[in-house]
Amino acid sequence: MRKIVIAGNWKMYKTQRESSEFLQAFMPQLESTPQEREVVLCPPFTALSAMSTSLHGSSVQLGAQNIHWENSGAYTGEISGEMLTELGVRYAIVGHSERRQYFGETDETVNKRLIAAQRHGLIPILCVGETKQERDADETEALISNQLAKDLVGVDQKKLVIAYEPIWAIGTGDTCEALEANRVIGLIRSQLKVADVPIQYGGSVKPNNIDELMSQPEIDGVLVGGASLEPDSFARIVNYK
Ligand code: 13P
Repeated sequence: MRKIVIAGNWKMYKTQRESSEFLQAFMPQLESTPQEREVVLCPPFTALSAMSTSLHGSSVQLGAQNIHWENSGAYTGEISGEMLTELGVRYAIVGHSERRQYFGETDETVNKRLIAAQRHGLIPILCVGETKQERDADETEALISNQLAKDLVGVDQKKLVIAYEPIWAIGTGDTCEALEANRVIGLIRSQLKVADVPIQYGGSVKPNNIDELMSQPEIDGVLVGGASLEPDSFARIVNYK
């Protein structure tokens, strides 16, 4: 059985106070959520400590939005695995397209971050996906194959989550059709050595498309941006039917 992982990526949204307000409204809505659904929240680093305290003893896991490959050092603005694990963080998003696009993240640095996450006992959520231009040029499959081949060198696939996030679907409201997301995720799976790696879909996931996405056989969860910022909307996603 593949694990179902529903994660909220808050990106650069929410102060610590706003994170507490979110949890107050969100947590009571998880009472009848099936236990086999792993719910993960990835707030900004500044909210991790307070959220870790609030979530102690709950079923919701914490994730970070990045992790550096060294254990410590002169790397201004970066964060280490130990800093995250000390706070009870269990997951780390690696290689998000916004990191690749705006912060010069390459397949080589993504690979190093994946390995570091696993060295610290964190489960990395590796993001892959194509631009609109690459899709229009029929390069989707080749691009994703290439990302996987480079990013996963030396990575233990038994301790990994992958998110297929087509860049053209992120923050645009232009969700990838469920059948197409299912097809690409099937292709990703066919390239892996371990059959039961959970593979998520991400890109404009909303309360009104979650049920259809999760009914697809290859889709093992979602990575949600905008719709994870509001408690009722993320609760509806977590409690998909
Ligand atoms: P949206 O859900 O806002 O499209 O963002 C998706 C995403 O980038 C999650 O990592």
